[in-house]
Amino acid sequence: MKILLVGSGGREHALAWKLAQSPQVQTVYVAPGNGGTATAKQTAAGITNLPISGLQELVDFAKREKIHLTVVGPEAPLAAGIVDLFRANGLRIFGPTQLAAQLESSKDFSKAFMKRHGIPTADYQTFSSTLEAHAYIDAKGAPIVIKADGLAAGKGVVVAMNLAEAHAAVDMMLADNKLGNAGARVVIEEFLTGEEASFIVLVDGKNALALATSQDHKRLLDGDQGPNTGGMGAYSPAPVVTPEIHARALREVIMPTVRGMEADGLPYTGFLYAGLMITPDGKIKCLEFNCRMGDPETQPIMARLRSDLLNVLDHAVDGTLNTVDLDWDRRTALGVVVAAKNYPETPRTEDAITGIAPDTEDQLTFHAGTKLEGGKLVSSGGRVLCVVGLSDTVRGAQQKAYEAIAKIHFDGMQYRQDIGYRAVK
Ligand code: AMP
Ligand code: GLY
Repeated sequence: MKILLVGSGGREHALAWKLAQSPQVQTVYVAPGNGGTATAKQTAAGITNLPISGLQELVDFAKREKIHLTVVGPEAPLAAGIVDLFRANGLRIFGPTQLAAQLESSKDFSKAFMKRHGIPTADYQTFSSTLEAHAYIDAKGAPIVIKADGLAAGKGVVVAMNLAEAHAAVDMMLADNKLGNAGARVVIEEFLTGEEASFIVLVDGKNALALATSQDHKRLLDGDQGPNTGGMGAYSPAPVVTPEIHARALREVIMPTVRGMEADGLPYTGFLYAGLMITPDGKIKCLEFNCRMGDPETQPIMARLRSDLLNVLDHAVDGTLNTVDLDWDRRTALGVVVAAKNYPETPRTEDAITGIAPDTEDQLTFHAGTKLEGGKLVSSGGRVLCVVGLSDTVRGAQQKAYEAIAKIHFDGMQYRQDIGYRAVK
């Protein structure tokens, strides 16, 4: 069978790697893919890059090549309606419709949805008036969180620790229009404290199937300092998600979401990622939804998945996820992102990358911002690689990942030294 996978990041390399292991899969076409999925072809893993990204071109390709299933990695094509278009053309695709993807593409939609369906989340209000937003901030005080309503590629959330930062964020989004349409409305919400976890499930419209738990590291620097990024490393499982928290997440967040979307006439299908805040007293609040897998969470999660991913996705598309049990490697998988110089502001590209060792049973390298240029591997984005180590302990997995990174070189490479520190503690 032929599979089409849309996207080009580390998440997509990991999904392609896993899909290609299915005995039913002949080829995984990754559109447009990266240097890692390009080289996988040469090692006969059945992965091929496809240099297209227009939605209609993808439909045409899927029809022509009789693609069995299309899987969508990033949020942008989902928010643009790729699932609606594929379905209208009678093609099998896994992901939410454009309207259902509003759970991620509009913070106001997702907050109103959570409130309406009793899903625990931070208190908030939405504003399009600069004056009213400033007044609300003065009334509430700091710390406070300002979020652009629309998709802003990770730049849409400001956790303001004082009033000046909060007012500046409102001006940046509403008055100065720095985020364009995405910032034309802002959600201003209560600041929450606690430990975050990524809770990702597959949804088939009615049933939800939880993937292994994970935890991301959003800040650039060790000790969770520095600016927010797309994610500098992740590990799975996340011990903060105890069996009790796991049950609560399903009962209080995931199932009410699946039922609420169905009740609202927007049945949800696809990956659903709930960003959870686990408060010190053991309660959970949903910080946000993403309508896709996390990046870099996908890399350690796929490294641990033993079940046939295609089989699971087929059940998800057919509405029979209730019949599936997932099998996981019991080891911890820990992925460290290696980023480019000047990431996240203005990442430098075109640096030659050397020293990536072939994958082993406990060391895997997934590419993100890489491309092949004249047969040489060079950087092409902010997050360049994600190196995953596997071991029976978190510390062991850390050692494996950092040992592999030590052999890799490109000018200006930067990475956190402390991925997994909360689990080690
Ligand atoms: P989001 O895109 O909504 O996940 O926000 C990005 C990051 O901002 C989250 O991973 C949190 O670290 C932080 N954040 C978002 N909302 C809040 C909140 N209400 N309180 C504290 N931190 C938050
Ligand atoms: N790593 C966070 C995300 O994918 O949204």
